[in-house]
Amino acid sequence: MGLAERLLGSPEKQFIMYGGKGGLGKTTFSAATAYYLANKGKRVLVFSVDPQASLSDIFERDIFGQGNVEIAPNLFACEVDADRRIAEYQQEIRQKIMDMYGMAKVPDEIESYIAASSAEPAMEESAIFDAVVDIVVEGGFDYYIYDLVPLGHALYYLSMGSIYDAWLNKITGLREQMREYDEVIATMQSDDEISEDKIYEELVYIKNRIGTASQIMTDPQRTSFYFVLTPEEMIINDTRKAADLFGKFGVPMSGYIVNRVIPVEELTGDLPSYLRNRVEMQVGCLDNIRKIFGKDVLGYVPEFDNEVKGMDAIRRMAETMFGEKLT
Ligand SMILES: Nc1ncnc2c1ncn2[C@@H]1O[C@H](COP(=O)(O)OP(=O)(O)OP(=O)(O)O)[C@@H](O)[C@H]1O
Ligand SMILES: [Mg+2]
Repeated sequence: MGLAERLLGSPEKQFIMYGGKGGLGKTTFSAATAYYLANKGKRVLVFSVDPQASLSDIFERDIFGQGNVEIAPNLFACEVDADRRIAEYQQEIRQKIMDMYGMAKVPDEIESYIAASSAEPAMEESAIFDAVVDIVVEGGFDYYIYDLVPLGHALYYLSMGSIYDAWLNKITGLREQMREYDEVIATMQSDDEISEDKIYEELVYIKNRIGTASQIMTDPQRTSFYFVLTPEEMIINDTRKAADLFGKFGVPMSGYIVNRVIPVEELTGDLPSYLRNRVEMQVGCLDNIRKIFGKDVLGYVPEFDNEVKGMDAIRRMAETMFGEKLT
């Protein structure tokens, strides 16, 4: 399908993402791709921020919240536990308060405030985003495979990077401009302005952190983004719309992979009508997919006779996706 050459032939494209609607095969393809690249001797990290712990499911190993777990030689998997990151962050705040005021225990009123903050959706998102930034900035792997959550959400996370980026650019730009007047007003500088500079530094720090992550994720030189779809009319329409949106956010689109294609050649004899209808529907949809996405369709993956779970099934999926026998 050419996917193998694309991935191995451009090692600078370290970041690989599979996007698509819920349940179409993102986690399956992420795991199989990780397996394939690790099998080729590359150091690979496949990671997810999904609280569903679907990497634990597919690898049949409990890796949730355990950091980078080595699943097989060269193959590492990581499932970020956002709740735990929030708890850790809250503990840090508690410790700071106790240290600052020399207390042995945080007062009840403050404690209830800290507890309430974890219910904020922004808190969870910021914990998740921070975790992804950590992984991307830390380095140490040849390839990173980001097993995305279903489309809408993924789009939100990705867009967050560029939105923050634009916003912080504006603020830092303004601050830079103001700095030009600094010499003039140096003699008039008050404590307020000194603390403002601290804020400015913090903003630049955040901007650089988020900037690094979002730049990498939207950099066509370093990232490949594949859409997973199935031959169904509604899925085709949704994929088309989503591809437009992703394009607007500057996510580099590398191509489409069609999953769960019923292997017609294996069907013999009289088919029950429901199956015959399904096959006919798929044939029509596959025609449409070819018309709409053309040469951007990189491959077709057949419907397996079973759920894709466990290393044997993952290997089988990798062999199918990359058209190679693996050990
Ligand atoms: N080609 C296939 N043949 C048979 N089963 C498949 C195939 N591809 C995926 N599946 C099964 O479909 C289910 C959903 O797949 P998967 O978890 O990879 O989807 P997802 O896109 O990651 O879902 P979510 O959006 O919930 O994260 C799983 O049970 C998986 O084993
Ligand atoms: Mg998934």
